[in-house]
Amino acid sequence: MEQALNKIKTTTLELVGSSKTLDELEAIRVRVLGRKGELTGILRSLGSLTPEERAIMGKRSNEIKREIESALDARKEELNSASIEGLLQKDWIDLTLDREPLFTAGARGYQHPISQIQYEIEDIFTSMGFQILDGPEAETDYYNFEALNIPAHHPARDMQDTFWTEDGNLLRTHTSAIQIRGMEKIDPPFRVVGPGRVFRYESTDASHENTFYQVEGMMVDKEISVSHLIFFMKELLREIFHRDVKIRLRPGYFPFVEPGFELDINCLICGGSGCSVCKQSGWVELLPCGLVHPNVLRYGNIDPEEWSGFAFGLGMNRLIMMRYGINDIRHFLSGDIRFLKQF
Ligand code: FA5
Repeated sequence: MEQALNKIKTTTLELVGSSKTLDELEAIRVRVLGRKGELTGILRSLGSLTPEERAIMGKRSNEIKREIESALDARKEELNSASIEGLLQKDWIDLTLDREPLFTAGARGYQHPISQIQYEIEDIFTSMGFQILDGPEAETDYYNFEALNIPAHHPARDMQDTFWTEDGNLLRTHTSAIQIRGMEKIDPPFRVVGPGRVFRYESTDASHENTFYQVEGMMVDKEISVSHLIFFMKELLREIFHRDVKIRLRPGYFPFVEPGFELDINCLICGGSGCSVCKQSGWVELLPCGLVHPNVLRYGNIDPEEWSGFAFGLGMNRLIMMRYGINDIRHFLSGDIRFLKQF
């Protein structure tokens, strides 16, 4: 028994000394001192010895038990402090250090040119007494077509190829949908602009996107005429381009205005000589407009006998293209950082 006790002691102390984790240490404790442990087994068997042997072996067993227990405790402490130190070292943060710059020079974020021009246009119009309105991008047929004097089966629906949803709603094809929402909310006289993203189910080229931005404008007051309309359009273009740009006004058909006009800008990409943006015509359609049709005023609960108004729908992407000489509208949604960095 003496031999067995000594063997347990030597092996256990060796194992404890070389143990690497607290789990490993616990496993050693269970194997030696646990209910079915090696040393526990010996202590249990002491009862079968003679009283003299029992006194000697009992004393020896208890000495070895205490030695093993204190070796286990000492090693546990060592492993504990090593793991805390390890944690501290791993998660050490020197709060006094300067932090690494998040971005290297020149790699900052940029405001998208569409946002820039939108805020600029909003400033121009708010300085002229307009308020800014918003509207949903997913619209109902009523706000996008019907209340704009384009009933179901009207041929003008084909002018704007539409993304329909399965439940009969649509992605708005123009910001004109904001007009009706504005009239429902505000009593005349009023001046509003509604910028936003619009969607058309059409193929793209240098001047056409399926997702682009417009700004709707509307003024309702007493005796509004085409001269008011022309004044505000000229003001807008003067502020945007900071110089005189050549424009032309020609008749245009939109069911929600009467009379309706197309305001074209002389192509600033080619200077009017013809390119892919202006389709070799020298002119770019930018700003259709007109006097609000009486039916549309009625849809907005406004009496056309008393009030009249003008409305316009500015193509923001094309405006930016003209201002900065961008020769393809598809750059806007390309996500190409080299394009965005220029603004
Ligand atoms: C309309 O969307 C009318 N709602 C504008 C309007 C409002 C007229 C109020 C009268 C009164 P149009 O489909 O022409 O009209 O589009 C207006 C402008 O959006 C165009 O002049 C052009 O600048 C821009 N635009 C139209 N289609 C595209 C397209 N696919 N890609 C880029 N810009 C476009």
